[in-house]
Amino acid sequence: MALIIDGKQVSQKILAELKEKTRELKETKGITPGIALLLVGDNPASKSYVASKKKACEELGYFSIVEHLPETTPEAEVLKLIHDWNHDERIHGILVQLPLPRHINELKVTLSIKPSKDVDGFHPENFGRLVIGLPGFRPCTPAGIIELLKFYKLPTSGKHIVVVGRSNIVGKPVANLLYQKNPDANAIVTICHTGASDLRRFTRSADIVIAAIGKPKFITSDFLTNGVVVIDVGINRVDDPSSPKGYKIVGDVDFDDVEPIASAITPVPGGVGPMTIAMLMKNTFLSASGELKYEA
Ligand code: GUN
Repeated sequence: MALIIDGKQVSQKILAELKEKTRELKETKGITPGIALLLVGDNPASKSYVASKKKACEELGYFSIVEHLPETTPEAEVLKLIHDWNHDERIHGILVQLPLPRHINELKVTLSIKPSKDVDGFHPENFGRLVIGLPGFRPCTPAGIIELLKFYKLPTSGKHIVVVGRSNIVGKPVANLLYQKNPDANAIVTICHTGASDLRRFTRSADIVIAAIGKPKFITSDFLTNGVVVIDVGINRVDDPSSPKGYKIVGDVDFDDVEPIASAITPVPGGVGPMTIAMLMKNTFLSASGELKYEA
Protein backbone atom coordinates (compact mmCIF):
# COMPACT_ATOMS: atom_id res chain seq x y z
CA MET A 1 0.00 0.00 0.00
CA ALA A 2 1.49 3.29 -1.11
CA LEU A 3 1.38 6.48 0.89
CA ILE A 4 -1.14 8.71 -0.90
CA ILE A 5 0.34 12.20 -1.11
CA ASP A 6 -2.48 14.59 -0.23
CA GLY A 7 -1.80 17.82 -2.09
CA LYS A 8 -5.16 19.21 -1.13
CA GLN A 9 -4.35 18.98 2.57
CA VAL A 10 -0.84 20.41 2.17
CA SER A 11 -2.07 23.26 -0.02
CA GLN A 12 -4.82 24.12 2.50
CA LYS A 13 -2.19 24.33 5.24
CA ILE A 14 -0.05 26.68 3.13
CA LEU A 15 -3.07 28.82 2.23
CA ALA A 16 -4.17 29.06 5.88
CA GLU A 17 -0.67 30.25 6.86
CA LEU A 18 -0.69 32.79 4.04
CA LYS A 19 -4.09 34.09 5.11
CA GLU A 20 -2.75 34.80 8.58
CA LYS A 21 0.44 36.39 7.22
CA THR A 22 -1.64 38.54 4.86
CA ARG A 23 -3.71 39.82 7.77
CA GLU A 24 -0.48 40.72 9.59
CA LEU A 25 1.03 42.40 6.53
CA LYS A 26 -2.07 44.58 6.14
CA GLU A 27 -2.09 45.47 9.82
CA THR A 28 1.59 46.15 10.31
CA LYS A 29 2.60 47.63 6.95
CA GLY A 30 -0.68 48.55 5.28
CA ILE A 31 0.18 46.37 2.28
CA THR A 32 -2.44 44.22 0.54
CA PRO A 33 -0.95 41.64 -1.85
CA GLY A 34 -2.29 42.29 -5.35
CA ILE A 35 -2.36 40.14 -8.44
CA ALA A 36 -3.50 40.76 -12.02
CA LEU A 37 -4.81 37.77 -13.94
CA LEU A 38 -5.22 37.80 -17.70
CA LEU A 39 -7.24 35.29 -19.67
CA VAL A 40 -7.51 35.63 -23.45
CA GLY A 41 -10.15 33.50 -25.16
CA ASP A 42 -12.47 30.81 -23.88
CA ASN A 43 -10.37 27.68 -23.40
CA PRO A 44 -12.51 25.80 -20.83
CA ALA A 45 -9.55 24.48 -18.79
CA SER A 46 -7.94 27.95 -18.69
CA LYS A 47 -11.25 29.53 -17.62
CA SER A 48 -11.54 27.09 -14.77
CA TYR A 49 -7.91 27.65 -13.65
CA VAL A 50 -8.34 31.43 -13.65
CA ALA A 51 -11.62 31.14 -11.71
CA SER A 52 -9.84 29.01 -9.08
CA LYS A 53 -7.00 31.53 -8.81
CA LYS A 54 -9.47 34.39 -8.38
CA LYS A 55 -11.30 32.45 -5.66
CA ALA A 56 -8.03 31.79 -3.82
CA CYS A 57 -7.28 35.55 -3.90
CA GLU A 58 -10.69 36.32 -2.41
CA GLU A 59 -10.24 33.73 0.34
CA LEU A 60 -6.83 35.11 1.32
CA GLY A 61 -7.89 38.76 1.18
CA TYR A 62 -5.67 39.68 -1.79
CA PHE A 63 -6.52 42.49 -4.17
CA SER A 64 -7.10 41.07 -7.64
CA ILE A 65 -7.84 42.29 -11.14
CA VAL A 66 -9.17 39.73 -13.60
CA GLU A 67 -9.24 40.69 -17.28
CA HIS A 68 -11.02 38.28 -19.60
CA LEU A 69 -10.41 39.39 -23.19
CA PRO A 70 -11.86 37.95 -26.39
CA GLU A 71 -9.93 35.38 -28.48
CA THR A 72 -9.39 38.01 -31.21
CA THR A 73 -7.65 40.57 -28.93
CA PRO A 74 -4.62 42.02 -30.75
CA GLU A 75 -1.21 41.28 -29.28
CA ALA A 76 -0.55 45.02 -28.85
CA GLU A 77 -3.54 45.31 -26.49
CA VAL A 78 -2.21 42.49 -24.32
CA LEU A 79 1.23 44.13 -24.21
CA LYS A 80 -0.31 47.50 -23.27
CA LEU A 81 -2.25 45.93 -20.39
CA ILE A 82 0.90 44.26 -19.05
CA HIS A 83 2.82 47.52 -19.38
CA ASP A 84 0.17 49.24 -17.25
CA TRP A 85 0.25 46.47 -14.61
CA ASN A 86 4.06 46.61 -14.52
CA HIS A 87 3.68 50.22 -13.36
CA ASP A 88 0.66 49.73 -11.07
CA GLU A 89 1.78 49.79 -7.42
CA ARG A 90 -1.27 47.82 -6.27
CA ILE A 91 -0.11 44.89 -8.36
CA HIS A 92 2.68 42.66 -7.00
CA GLY A 93 2.12 39.73 -9.36
CA ILE A 94 1.09 39.39 -13.01
CA LEU A 95 -0.21 36.13 -14.42
CA VAL A 96 -1.07 35.56 -18.07
CA GLN A 97 -2.88 32.25 -18.40
CA LEU A 98 -1.34 30.03 -21.07
CA PRO A 99 -1.84 28.93 -23.78
CA LEU A 100 -2.54 32.19 -25.60
CA PRO A 101 -4.33 32.33 -28.98
CA ARG A 102 -1.98 31.54 -31.87
CA HIS A 103 -1.74 35.09 -33.20
CA ILE A 104 -0.19 36.23 -29.90
CA ASN A 105 3.51 35.57 -29.40
CA GLU A 106 3.74 33.86 -26.02
CA LEU A 107 7.45 34.55 -25.58
CA LYS A 108 7.00 38.24 -26.36
CA VAL A 109 4.24 38.45 -23.76
CA THR A 110 6.30 36.56 -21.15
CA LEU A 111 9.27 38.87 -21.79
CA SER A 112 7.07 41.95 -21.35
CA ILE A 113 6.26 41.07 -17.71
CA LYS A 114 8.54 42.83 -15.23
CA PRO A 115 10.65 39.99 -13.75
CA SER A 116 10.02 41.21 -10.18
CA LYS A 117 6.24 40.74 -10.77
CA ASP A 118 6.55 37.46 -12.68
CA VAL A 119 4.90 35.27 -10.02
CA ASP A 120 4.58 32.40 -12.54
CA GLY A 121 8.39 32.31 -12.80
CA PHE A 122 8.25 31.95 -16.59
CA HIS A 123 10.43 34.96 -17.53
CA PRO A 124 13.93 33.89 -18.71
CA GLU A 125 15.39 36.15 -16.00
CA ASN A 126 13.67 34.05 -13.34
CA PHE A 127 14.52 30.79 -15.09
CA GLY A 128 18.18 31.86 -15.19
CA ARG A 129 18.06 32.77 -11.50
CA LEU A 130 16.65 29.30 -10.75
CA VAL A 131 19.43 27.58 -12.68
CA ILE A 132 22.26 29.45 -10.93
CA GLY A 133 20.57 29.34 -7.52
CA LEU A 134 19.84 33.08 -7.12
CA PRO A 135 16.67 34.34 -5.40
CA GLY A 136 13.79 34.70 -7.84
CA PHE A 137 10.29 33.44 -8.53
CA ARG A 138 10.17 29.68 -8.96
CA PRO A 139 7.46 28.30 -11.29
CA CYS A 140 4.48 27.25 -9.21
CA THR A 141 3.99 23.60 -10.16
CA PRO A 142 7.69 22.68 -9.76
CA ALA A 143 7.84 24.59 -6.45
CA GLY A 144 4.70 22.73 -5.34
CA ILE A 145 6.32 19.37 -6.10
CA ILE A 146 9.35 20.29 -3.95
CA GLU A 147 6.99 21.33 -1.12
CA LEU A 148 5.13 18.01 -1.28
CA LEU A 149 8.35 15.97 -1.15
CA LYS A 150 9.50 18.09 1.80
CA PHE A 151 6.20 17.85 3.67
CA TYR A 152 6.15 14.05 3.46
CA LYS A 153 9.91 13.85 4.24
CA LEU A 154 10.58 11.93 1.05
CA PRO A 155 14.34 12.34 0.60
CA THR A 156 15.75 13.58 -2.68
CA SER A 157 19.42 13.99 -1.73
CA GLY A 158 21.53 11.43 -3.57
CA LYS A 159 18.45 9.86 -5.18
CA HIS A 160 17.93 9.29 -8.86
CA ILE A 161 14.96 11.34 -10.06
CA VAL A 162 13.66 10.79 -13.57
CA VAL A 163 11.58 13.64 -14.96
CA VAL A 164 9.47 12.56 -17.93
CA GLY A 165 8.61 15.68 -19.95
CA ARG A 166 10.66 18.71 -20.99
CA SER A 167 8.14 21.54 -20.95
CA ASN A 168 9.20 25.04 -19.95
CA ILE A 169 6.44 25.11 -17.33
CA VAL A 170 7.20 21.85 -15.49
CA GLY A 171 9.85 19.44 -16.84
CA LYS A 172 12.77 21.82 -17.33
CA PRO A 173 12.30 23.90 -14.16
CA VAL A 174 11.58 20.96 -11.82
CA ALA A 175 14.68 19.14 -13.09
CA ASN A 176 16.79 22.25 -12.53
CA LEU A 177 15.41 22.74 -9.01
CA LEU A 178 16.07 19.14 -8.02
CA TYR A 179 19.79 18.97 -8.73
CA GLN A 180 20.58 22.21 -6.85
CA LYS A 181 23.05 21.88 -4.00
CA ASN A 182 20.68 22.29 -1.07
CA PRO A 183 19.10 19.81 1.38
CA ASP A 184 15.65 19.98 -0.32
CA ALA A 185 17.18 18.90 -3.64
CA ASN A 186 20.68 17.50 -4.28
CA ALA A 187 19.29 14.76 -6.51
CA ILE A 188 20.79 13.08 -9.55
CA VAL A 189 18.36 14.08 -12.27
CA THR A 190 17.62 12.58 -15.67
CA ILE A 191 15.29 14.42 -18.05
CA CYS A 192 13.45 12.08 -20.40
CA HIS A 193 10.76 12.64 -22.95
CA THR A 194 8.56 10.66 -25.27
CA GLY A 195 11.30 10.76 -27.92
CA ALA A 196 13.39 8.30 -25.87
CA SER A 197 13.93 5.07 -27.81
CA ASP A 198 13.58 3.05 -24.59
CA LEU A 199 11.99 5.17 -21.88
CA ARG A 200 11.65 2.21 -19.48
CA ARG A 201 15.43 1.83 -19.33
CA PHE A 202 15.56 5.18 -17.53
CA THR A 203 12.34 5.17 -15.50
CA ARG A 204 13.07 1.68 -14.11
CA SER A 205 16.26 2.95 -12.50
CA ALA A 206 14.48 5.85 -10.77
CA ASP A 207 13.90 6.29 -7.03
CA ILE A 208 11.41 9.05 -7.90
CA VAL A 209 9.54 9.50 -11.19
CA ILE A 210 7.94 12.83 -12.07
CA ALA A 211 5.47 12.40 -14.92
CA ALA A 212 4.72 15.61 -16.84
CA ILE A 213 4.05 14.46 -20.38
CA GLY A 214 0.38 15.27 -20.95
CA LYS A 215 -0.59 11.74 -22.00
CA PRO A 216 -3.41 10.09 -20.04
CA LYS A 217 -2.33 7.03 -17.98
CA PHE A 218 0.91 6.76 -19.98
CA ILE A 219 3.09 5.53 -17.09
CA THR A 220 2.15 1.99 -16.10
CA SER A 221 3.78 -0.34 -13.54
CA ASP A 222 6.09 -1.89 -16.15
CA PHE A 223 7.93 1.47 -16.35
CA LEU A 224 8.80 1.34 -12.65
CA THR A 225 10.48 -0.62 -9.88
CA ASN A 226 9.03 -1.59 -6.50
CA GLY A 227 9.13 1.15 -3.89
CA VAL A 228 9.31 4.04 -6.34
CA VAL A 229 7.88 7.47 -5.42
CA VAL A 230 5.57 8.69 -8.19
CA ILE A 231 4.64 12.33 -8.75
CA ASP A 232 1.92 12.72 -11.36
CA VAL A 233 1.68 16.21 -12.86
CA GLY A 234 -0.79 15.26 -15.61
CA ILE A 235 -4.19 16.92 -15.85
CA ASN A 236 -5.86 15.27 -18.86
CA ARG A 237 -9.52 15.54 -19.74
CA VAL A 238 -10.85 12.23 -21.05
CA ASP A 239 -14.40 11.43 -22.18
CA ASP A 240 -16.60 9.91 -19.48
CA PRO A 241 -20.24 9.56 -20.49
CA SER A 242 -21.11 8.47 -16.91
CA SER A 243 -20.05 11.85 -15.48
CA PRO A 244 -22.52 14.79 -15.58
CA LYS A 245 -19.79 16.92 -17.21
CA GLY A 246 -19.15 14.27 -19.88
CA TYR A 247 -15.45 14.08 -18.99
CA LYS A 248 -13.16 13.20 -16.14
CA ILE A 249 -9.64 14.27 -15.20
CA VAL A 250 -6.89 11.63 -15.22
CA GLY A 251 -3.15 11.92 -14.71
CA ASP A 252 -0.18 10.83 -16.81
CA VAL A 253 0.12 7.80 -14.52
CA ASP A 254 -2.17 4.77 -14.48
CA PHE A 255 -2.86 5.12 -10.75
CA ASP A 256 -4.64 1.78 -10.17
CA ASP A 257 -1.87 -0.13 -11.91
CA VAL A 258 1.03 1.75 -10.28
CA GLU A 259 -0.20 2.30 -6.71
CA PRO A 260 0.40 -1.32 -5.54
CA ILE A 261 4.13 -1.18 -6.37
CA ALA A 262 4.82 2.44 -5.34
CA SER A 263 5.93 3.54 -1.86
CA ALA A 264 4.22 6.92 -2.34
CA ILE A 265 2.10 8.42 -5.11
CA THR A 266 0.15 11.59 -5.88
CA PRO A 267 -3.48 11.10 -6.94
CA VAL A 268 -5.13 13.06 -9.77
CA PRO A 269 -7.06 15.11 -8.86
CA GLY A 270 -5.92 16.15 -5.38
CA GLY A 271 -2.14 15.69 -5.73
CA VAL A 272 0.09 18.23 -7.46
CA GLY A 273 -2.80 20.33 -8.89
CA PRO A 274 -3.86 22.15 -5.70
CA MET A 275 -0.21 22.96 -4.93
CA THR A 276 0.13 25.12 -8.06
CA ILE A 277 -2.37 27.69 -6.78
CA ALA A 278 -0.92 27.62 -3.27
CA MET A 279 2.54 28.40 -4.65
CA LEU A 280 1.17 31.19 -6.84
CA MET A 281 -0.38 32.76 -3.76
CA LYS A 282 2.93 32.30 -1.91
CA ASN A 283 4.93 33.95 -4.70
CA THR A 284 2.51 36.88 -4.73
CA PHE A 285 2.82 37.26 -0.97
CA LEU A 286 6.63 37.19 -1.18
CA SER A 287 6.50 39.87 -3.86
CA ALA A 288 4.18 42.09 -1.79
CA SER A 289 5.99 41.68 1.52
CA GLY A 290 9.43 42.25 0.00
CA GLU A 291 10.65 38.97 1.58
CA LEU A 292 11.98 37.82 -1.74
CA LYS A 293 15.12 39.91 -2.15
CA TYR A 294 14.81 40.23 -5.87
CA GLU A 295 17.69 42.62 -6.51
CA ALA A 296 21.06 40.88 -6.78
N1 GUN B 1 -1.15 27.05 -18.18
C1 GUN B 1 -0.96 25.82 -17.64
N2 GUN B 1 -0.32 25.93 -16.46
C2 GUN B 1 -0.10 27.23 -16.24
C3 GUN B 1 0.51 27.95 -15.19
O1 GUN B 1 1.02 27.42 -14.19
N3 GUN B 1 0.52 29.30 -15.35
C4 GUN B 1 -0.01 29.92 -16.44
N4 GUN B 1 0.08 31.23 -16.50
N5 GUN B 1 -0.57 29.27 -17.43
C5 GUN B 1 -0.62 27.94 -17.33
